[in-house]
Amino acid sequence: MKIVLIGFMGSGKSSTAEMLGTRLSQPVIEMDEQVLQRTGAVSMDEVFQKGGELLLRETEIAIAKELSEGSDTVVSTGGGVVMNKIIIDYLRQNGGQVVYLSASFSEIATRLAADPTPRPLFTDRAQAEDLYTFREPLYRRYADAIVETDGRSIAEIAQHIISTISPANEPDISTH
Ligand code: S3P
Repeated sequence: MKIVLIGFMGSGKSSTAEMLGTRLSQPVIEMDEQVLQRTGAVSMDEVFQKGGELLLRETEIAIAKELSEGSDTVVSTGGGVVMNKIIIDYLRQNGGQVVYLSASFSEIATRLAADPTPRPLFTDRAQAEDLYTFREPLYRRYADAIVETDGRSIAEIAQHIISTISPANEPDISTH
């Protein structure tokens, strides 16, 4: 089962992917980490210094193209993958199920205030909120499933995803 987690920065994609990977015994692919490896940067700030947002988006497209081959993985995307539909198209290949981790902007802002990871597109709260408002309909449009995360633990979110989209939980119709 290939699960692709999308959502805004701070929506819990990485933590949820880690738990899903453990629970489903599937490898987890962190797109942000792959971006750092491929660009030779140590942080997203450095990626932006090297080549701006364009470098990030081009690298994401190349990574998604390679991931289109894989199956039985959990892919944690960067929050901006919905800016390029081709990324979603690649990640959907081989049965990829796209799950949107939805969180309110206020919850996201609270979570990110406590997160030391550099996020070049979340330096100004008002601008970040505009970006959130712009992207929210895109996450919904591309999602096969939507999980509301406010007030839910990572374990609850992972369990919800497993019980709604894992094939092991689909009724076995082969005997009917
Ligand atoms: C970005 C989200 C970040 C990272 C980069 C840009 C975005 O990933 O890819 O800083 O455009 O929303 P996370 O969603 O994992 O924070």
